Amino acid sequence: MKLTLIAGARPNFMKIAPVLRAIDDFNKGNKRIEYRLVHTGQHYDQAMSDTFFKELSIPEPDINLNSGSGTQATQTAAIMTRFEEDLIAHPADFVVVVGDVNSTLACAIVAKKLHTKVVHIEGGIRSWDLRMPEEINRMVTDSITDHFFTTSELAGSNLQREGHTDDQIHFVGNTMIDTLLHLKDRFQQPSFWDELALQKSGYLLMTLHRPSNVDNLEKLSEILSAIAENNNGVPVLFPVHPRTRKQIDQLASISKDFLQVEPQGYLKFNYLAANSAGIITDSGGITEEATVMDIPCITLRANTERPETVELGTNELVGNDPAQIADAVRRLTSGNWKTGSVPPMWDGKTAPRIIETLWKIFNA
Ligand code: UD1
Repeated sequence: MKLTLIAGARPNFMKIAPVLRAIDDFNKGNKRIEYRLVHTGQHYDQAMSDTFFKELSIPEPDINLNSGSGTQATQTAAIMTRFEEDLIAHPADFVVVVGDVNSTLACAIVAKKLHTKVVHIEGGIRSWDLRMPEEINRMVTDSITDHFFTTSELAGSNLQREGHTDDQIHFVGNTMIDTLLHLKDRFQQPSFWDELALQKSGYLLMTLHRPSNVDNLEKLSEILSAIAENNNGVPVLFPVHPRTRKQIDQLASISKDFLQVEPQGYLKFNYLAANSAGIITDSGGITEEATVMDIPCITLRANTERPETVELGTNELVGNDPAQIADAVRRLTSGNWKTGSVPPMWDGKTAPRIIETLWKIFNA
């Protein structure tokens, strides 16, 4: 069985790493799975890509398509053009895509048009918010996917409603959590810990990068003020995403309560998450990690494709309305937050389940 695995942007790397490990373990028996790892180059710099390959022990990709940034169409088109050439030169039985980024969509389309079966890890999740490029990526990818590996029962029901059949849908859990549990004993304290006088449960950790929160300067500044005026003096450690950096640099000033640092690697970021009093984010993946680590989490989005993080986990959706943000930050920093439980099958053993299932599908 030959697989081509796609990794393109930061949140893909932690989802693909355990799958590669599961293949290596599988190959220790007398059966053999070959794979080709394609990095689309959607994320390309040290902080957004290289560090993750190193820390997650992802092998050098067989090829980097170096597609880089651009508008939605420019980026998607560059990935498609370059991946088409690669897949024609190196045919596979399955192209495996993860998550919801532009690389996921681009490579799924290319594979399907070359009559290669598409496997989507994290298929079926829906925010129903079509202003998010990720939601369009999910819907279009799933409409042409042959086999879905899902993180929740709800994702499976969404896919059934869209006409997919039970034999295509495999509820296996969450590969991102495989990575979290695999590496939790190796989380690293960043070197700025003492310099910034950080203390366990003494700071909030924040990430922001959604276009709806950061692309408009007025909105961004409103969000930052709502946080800084209601944090009860608790400092907010803020690793700044490159998209957000471009915007922050245009603001006259931001509160000193925000401790700005570079985007962090996986081991340091999750050390910071695990030791924080709470997280403020607009990422989806971080809400899953917060839930598993039982860390309070405020999500600056009006909706989520991961409702289990709210219903079972520690996450609360507050949108980007300043009054709602203020209220949530006040409650969190005064220690008034729910505790959560871990969603079913998020047990660290998802990737081996995926590989066993794919092998069965291939040999059926
Ligand atoms: C992308 C994903 C999003 C994911 C996020 C995590 C899509 C549609 N969006 O959004 O789902 O949550 O990644 O980061 O696929 N840049 C760098 N260095 C890099 C990569 C990007 O400086 O290594 C800069 C580029 O100049 C670019 C900007 O960051 O303009 C945004 O990158 P892009 O990949 O277009 O989208 P993200 O906002 O990162």
